[in-house]
Amino acid sequence: DDHHSHPHEPAPPPVGAYPRIRMRRNRADAWTRRMVSENRLTADDLIWPVFILPGENRREPVPSMPGVERLSIDLLVPAVAEAAELGIPCVALFPANPPEVKDPMGRESANPDNLMCRAMRALKRQVPDIGLFGDVALDPYTSHGHDGILRDGRIVNDETVEVLVRQALVQADAGCDIVGPSDMMDGRIGAIREALDAHGHQGVRICAYSAKYASAFYGPFRDAVNTGALLTGDKKTYQMDPANSDEALREVQLDLQEGADMVMVKPGLPYLDIIRRVKDTFRVPTLAYNVSGEYAMLKAAAANGWLNYDKAMLEMLLAFKRSGADAVLTYAAIEAAKLLRQQG
Ligand code: PBG
Repeated sequence: DDHHSHPHEPAPPPVGAYPRIRMRRNRADAWTRRMVSENRLTADDLIWPVFILPGENRREPVPSMPGVERLSIDLLVPAVAEAAELGIPCVALFPANPPEVKDPMGRESANPDNLMCRAMRALKRQVPDIGLFGDVALDPYTSHGHDGILRDGRIVNDETVEVLVRQALVQADAGCDIVGPSDMMDGRIGAIREALDAHGHQGVRICAYSAKYASAFYGPFRDAVNTGALLTGDKKTYQMDPANSDEALREVQLDLQEGADMVMVKPGLPYLDIIRRVKDTFRVPTLAYNVSGEYAMLKAAAANGWLNYDKAMLEMLLAFKRSGADAVLTYAAIEAAKLLRQQG
């Protein structure tokens, strides 16, 4: 017949050849995409890590973290006020201590007038509406750059815990809302909880860096807090092996038993599987740390014109939400909060 006489006309499809179920229908318009979206990133999900410098009117860029500046307390206060104004609920503080205050025991960490405590007092007074998260570990205070006390070439656990307890207490006294032990010593959460309670700080929360891996992605952070050049060896006897996943669940379980109010997985991007397992297993507030190396990767690619920074950054932060994180520590917090505000 002449049905096939027009070679350029496609033959009619056989009945049933086209899909009945079309996933693209729900993606067809902006309004449906909005309606069916499963996760949403807001400023409420962001925790902004900041680096503190001693002195006054000091502002120093961190070369390996473009856009990040270390600030003296007087300049930090207005920066944190801006974060609060943007709706960011919490800032995480890290001191960039000069070599003079460092020693092998990290004694300065327990000085109630150290840089960290001075910053906390100033921020609590001048920006009362933002949460203060204090990193608890000895690396910004030790002359060898390790998170604990080094004896005969080993990081000793129980003595380190005693110093960490004192560090947590001076921070709590200075107005810290969440103490975040990032040291990975065994038993520190229970010891800190007990000490906080005994000293009238029952309301101070503990965020355990439970699943913290011995990672190469911390490099730029170590530049920022002047520990990179000091560090001898690696942190593999206390931080976790990147090969392990079940072990992360055990770490989280122990920290929860010892009294952690929330737990953290760190680094973030290469460990989204761990975040998902932790969230599914324990159903507790779970934070992710989008660490310095992850931030630097994006900035470096963007500086080369290889990707759209704003879009890639928001996609990355949304991925944390999708993986089950309740909040994300990210150096991009201010940039993200501004973009989210623009987008309404
Ligand atoms: C150390 C600490 C580190 C980070 C936060 N706290 C580095 C380390 O363990 O060496 C890394 C954060 C980042 O890379 O952004 N207590």
